[in-house]
This record gives sequence, C-alpha cells and structure tokens, in this order.
Amino acid sequence: INIHVELPDGSRVTLEAPTDMGLSVMEVMKANELDVPAICGGMAICATCHVEVLESGELPEPGDDEAYMLETLPHATATSRLSCQLRVNPELDGLVVRLMPEA
Ligand code: FES
Repeated sequence: INIHVELPDGSRVTLEAPTDMGLSVMEVMKANELDVPAICGGMAICATCHVEVLESGELPEPGDDEAYMLETLPHATATSRLSCQLRVNPELDGLVVRLMPEA
C-alpha cells in the first residue's frame, strides 16, 4: 500500500508499506529514513512519532496508552495519532499524515 507523509517543509513523500510484516507506520517512516526520533521504539510513551492524520479511511481507535499520550501533547489535534500505534494494513492505503513536532 502507499502512505503519504507531509514533511515539515510542506513537501509530501510517498512510501511503500508492506502489509504482511506487522510494521507500524512509524517503522515504515524510519525505514525510509524520515526524521522520526521514535525514542521509545514504539511503546507509546515518548510521542516523538506523533503525526496528524490528514486523510484516511477508517482507522482503529487509539488504545488507552496512545489516547493518554495524545491528551498530554500541546500540539495534538483532533486527528493526532502516534504513528507507532498504527499497524500497516490494507485499509491504510492512501493514508496521508503530517509529521508533527514532538511534545
Ligand atoms: Fe514512542 Fe511512538 S515511538 S510513542
């Protein structure tokens, strides 16, 4: 599937994301050498993988840990997510996210 990422300079890149490897959107972005610190390695405790979802189909609801982190982020918006908590699956095809500053 394809995932589109808006970078801080406003440009967009399109990433190919395999659906059969159990990767998170964060891991796909890192594999493509985007600047995602993801300090906690996907544990939903650092928020340095914060993205704003600009376009998507149906997304799973944030889990408790993710929802709690998002509540504490000053830059969070109504469509903010932790990209480490979004598993790549066929429904995410065409997803557009914006990289957000960390907390
Ligand atoms: Fe730390 Fe996602 S990588 S919260």
